[in-house]
Amino acid sequence: MTAVLELRDIKVRFGGVKAVDGVSLALEPGHLHALVGPNGSGKTTVVNTMSRLVTPTDGQVFLGGQDVTAAGPHEVYRRGLARTFQGIRLVEGLTVRENVLLGVQELPTARSRAGRRRAAEAADEALERMDVHHVAQVAPAALPYGVQRRVEIARAVAGAPKILLLDEPVAGMSAGERQEISAVLGRLRDDGMTMLLIEHDLRFVLGLSDHLFVLNFGQLLAAGDPAATAALPAVQEAFLGRKHVPA
Ligand SMILES: Nc1ncnc2c1ncn2[C@@H]1O[C@H](COP(=O)(O)OP(=O)(O)O)[C@@H](O)[C@H]1O
Ligand SMILES: [Mg+2]
Repeated sequence: MTAVLELRDIKVRFGGVKAVDGVSLALEPGHLHALVGPNGSGKTTVVNTMSRLVTPTDGQVFLGGQDVTAAGPHEVYRRGLARTFQGIRLVEGLTVRENVLLGVQELPTARSRAGRRRAAEAADEALERMDVHHVAQVAPAALPYGVQRRVEIARAVAGAPKILLLDEPVAGMSAGERQEISAVLGRLRDDGMTMLLIEHDLRFVLGLSDHLFVLNFGQLLAAGDPAATAALPAVQEAFLGRKHVPA
């Protein structure tokens, strides 16, 4: 199987900080991958490198087999890489539906009249898929956090990406909200979406992911089958004392 996204020996340095220190990993088509690690272990920097917001000090990024290390964020977006951010980023002056339309209108196919009609259809379909169509005309700020997060995911999937990167989508959520996001991600996986889910709670990703990557101090500590990887002594130790030890 060809990896849809691959990092080869990525290093990212911020001044004296080695945020990412030699990470190589590959995302397989149609799999839900989880990237876990303690706070400050480099998870967001890995995703920022993939989405081309951060340029690595060393190493290469491949998207669909092509080297995109020098590409910009819009270029990888046009090539099918979408993401959500750790802090929700919705445009306040726009409705939920208008926010989701932004996810489609950036694509070149949305420029013609027929393209705009297809874009509107894609936005409405994404609203339904994320179960937020009933709040389409509402301002995002009026909505609970968990619903805002689903709007953000709707915006990311409206452009029919090949890969979706989610940076801690359930951080700070209630158990009920986490369950809703979990169901949404499971549905996307069933539809064949390739995903990378960042999370610091090992337990949350165990039942959900097909493949687990564990980061610690900017390095890949372990990777593989989620249950087997989570059970490794080195992984247990990295999470010890942080209340993230799986049951
Ligand atoms: N823009 C930046 N400038 C300086 N240091 C940064 C920057 N972004 C991240 N870091 C540092 O890099 C390390 C990894 O951060 P981050 O990737 O955000 O970790 P995580 O998402 O796992 O919490 C941390 O030590 C953090 O302080
Ligand atoms: Mg982070």
